[in-house]
Amino acid sequence: MINDARHLAPRGSVRAAAFVLAAFARPTTVGALLPSSRHLALAMAEAAAGAERLIELGAGTGAITEALCREHPGIPTTAVELEPRLAQHLSRRFPGIEVRAAAADEVLRAMSSGHGSTVLVSSLPFRSLPPFWRQRSRQAIEDFLLAQPMRRLIQFTYQPRVPFDLQHVHALRWRRVGVIWRNAPPAWVWELGPVGNGLVLPELARAA
Ligand SMILES: C[S@@+](CC[C@H](N)C(=O)[O-])C[C@H]1O[C@@H](n2cnc3c(N)ncnc32)[C@H](O)[C@@H]1O
Repeated sequence: MINDARHLAPRGSVRAAAFVLAAFARPTTVGALLPSSRHLALAMAEAAAGAERLIELGAGTGAITEALCREHPGIPTTAVELEPRLAQHLSRRFPGIEVRAAAADEVLRAMSSGHGSTVLVSSLPFRSLPPFWRQRSRQAIEDFLLAQPMRRLIQFTYQPRVPFDLQHVHALRWRRVGVIWRNAPPAWVWELGPVGNGLVLPELARAA
């Protein structure tokens, strides 16, 4: 599906330029100056192993979307992106998945009653998001995970601290999966899931 669409895809440099423009226009919601590296994208995709449904939050230029489609072919995938122009690029580049130009919290609330073994794969820049967006997104993610015990979130940060402080501290737990040095800047990969669901990821030794 991805291969069929390659001739429609903007080249990497064009995607990077679109991302840099968005980053300068909305630095707090974009939260990075460069798209995720292929090493980080692979690590995020590998951390989502076992998913029966994937929802990517803040898909941006599609660096991680591409890895998700390659590593998890046939798994129903929804990519969510707030910035309409980036969402349009994603729709053209990945015709085999659903792309929603919307806020992550809206989509999560609408999909909350869906499949149990859903993995959320997020690039949302929690540490730079304005408080309004941070609070809404955090709340929606926690509610989504707590609705079904087999759900998990995979999230990266640019600092060795948890992506966000939990409201449901006794029901959910963060686990550090690994650090990816080959990204600008280096990124820490985290997993969040309900306490007791046996968060079982091995350390990402290969990708780190
Ligand atoms: C760090 S960037 C994405 C990096 C992405 N992995 C890439 O390589 O392009 C974060 C993205 O999240 C999007 N975003 C921020 N807040 C959002 C929200 N509440 N809902 C959906 N997307 C959001 C931004 O527009 C931006 O494209």
